[in-house]
Amino acid sequence: MDPVMKRVLTYGTFDTLHYGHIRLLQRARALGDYLIVALSTDEFNAIKGKKAYHSWEERKAHLEALRYVDLVIPENTWEQKRQDVTLYHVDIFTMGSDWEGKFDFLSDLCTVTYLSRTEGISSTMIRNTMDASEPAATPSETALSPGA
Ligand code: CTP
Repeated sequence: MDPVMKRVLTYGTFDTLHYGHIRLLQRARALGDYLIVALSTDEFNAIKGKKAYHSWEERKAHLEALRYVDLVIPENTWEQKRQDVTLYHVDIFTMGSDWEGKFDFLSDLCTVTYLSRTEGISSTMIRNTMDASEPAATPSETALSPGA
């Protein structure tokens, strides 16, 4: 492990990946040299009363396709953060400003910083829009429909 490499850690569900997430991840990565995303599992989301549209494996694949993300690990519990910071030699812990102050208890282990949240977009908004709209036609339905 490169001792001068600065490692950054963030947490979240990152469902229906959107530009608010991308901006967060871009700025998180720019705080250091290596970005680790602890991605909430489907089981942990159930505990939080949240249901993602995409499965953990799908959300992981979306994050891994981004140039800003170096490693995706599972987030299984609220309590794992101190262990993750130590295990992954994290220098900087960061979250969006909706979590302002909530993780200051980690500041004896690493730098804790909050990034401004992007206005006007969230996974909840996207999921609600998808729920409200008609199901998309499959390619075969489109081909069979008159005048298509
Ligand atoms: N985030 C952000 N700007 C947004 C939405 C999210 O900066 N518009 C940040 C959050 O602050 C968090 C990370 O992205 O640090 C992951 O947030 P997540 O809860 O997965 O995204 P939301 O879109 O807020 O999802 P939901 O609506 O399900 O709460």
